[in-house]
Amino acid sequence: MRIADFELERFFARWEFAVDHVLCASDVEGWPMADLLAMADDEARALWDGLTLGYTESTGHPLLRREIASLYEGIDESEVLVFSGAEEAIFCLVNVLLGPGDDAIVTWPGYQSLYEVGRAAGATVNLHELHEADGWAIDLDRMRRQLSPQTRLIIVNAPHNPTGMLPDRDTFDGLVALAADAGAHLLLDEVYRFLEFDPADRLPAGADVYPRGISLGVLSKSFAMAGLRIGWLATHDREMLDRAARFKDYTTICASAPAEVLSLIGLRARERVLDRSRGIVATNLERLDRFFASWPDSFSWVRPRAGSVGFPRLLADVPIDRFAADLVEAEGVLLLPGSRFGHPGQHFRLGFGRTDLGIALERLEAFATRTLR
Ligand SMILES: Cc1ncc(COP(=O)(O)O)c(C=O)c1O
Repeated sequence: MRIADFELERFFARWEFAVDHVLCASDVEGWPMADLLAMADDEARALWDGLTLGYTESTGHPLLRREIASLYEGIDESEVLVFSGAEEAIFCLVNVLLGPGDDAIVTWPGYQSLYEVGRAAGATVNLHELHEADGWAIDLDRMRRQLSPQTRLIIVNAPHNPTGMLPDRDTFDGLVALAADAGAHLLLDEVYRFLEFDPADRLPAGADVYPRGISLGVLSKSFAMAGLRIGWLATHDREMLDRAARFKDYTTICASAPAEVLSLIGLRARERVLDRSRGIVATNLERLDRFFASWPDSFSWVRPRAGSVGFPRLLADVPIDRFAADLVEAEGVLLLPGSRFGHPGQHFRLGFGRTDLGIALERLEAFATRTLR
């Protein structure tokens, strides 16, 4: 299999651990391990203390799968498959669902593996482009026109990376109906779910509303534990899940034993975990609101409705790649230019899940004052 370089991951490989402030990270500030362990109930603590470092069950620890299933309305633990990160889940799922002669529709700009793996598998991938002028909304009429008799899979990431877009309920229902009419699988990448700024905006999970709906989750983003590298698929389509499990025998076989137990602890304490994440994101959003309000001529910004990333646009007469390169050199602050998503023009990704956002923003403001005013 040949696959194109993952531009964003190559960018992070170069910069993430070489700069003072990553102002474009998509995850929420990671939990300290000691704080996580302190939240363990007796059963999970005993699992941790008695852990031996053998292989684990390839479908995932039964208690972990049960805990993941409880995030959904009507999913049981046998309808959950654990992976080493959402990334592995995408890789396995798309490989079993798509091949030469198949078509897929994928929201774009977006996380590259959501469309690149399908291409590498030989499928035709039609990008469903989101536009700032529409508030980055999904256009169901246009998506319907993108369908073909060969459309096997529709992939939508919501809440969306990099724009922070979250469809309204009507659009979501329309999307599910569209997938059902086409007889296609619908992969909902929900890795930023539970970070809706208004809880009333939370959408049902894809796995709960459609027999061919597949929910993708992970501990990295809303649950602020990216270092665990634990993700999952949830779906009523057991036959498809079984095929994904067979494919996983060629990637990791099973997840890391310590990570599974720590994930169980984190998910059992999810109200506290999510409260912390929402608190960080809310504080940072207020800072960003103030920042953008004081720079109306230099940046445009569609305020996200959920998640921990947004996709503002530099209005000044300097290319965003140049601006970002000069900023990182002068201030040690990292932005992610849209070019890393293959997106033309002046957009860049901002991440607001990290606790150093205040200081990073001060440095950005100092730099902007020197160069843009
Ligand atoms: C939309 C989306 N899906 C999947 C992933 C992959 O998550 P992980 O790196 O935890 O496997 C990411 C990570 O940035 C993402 O933003």
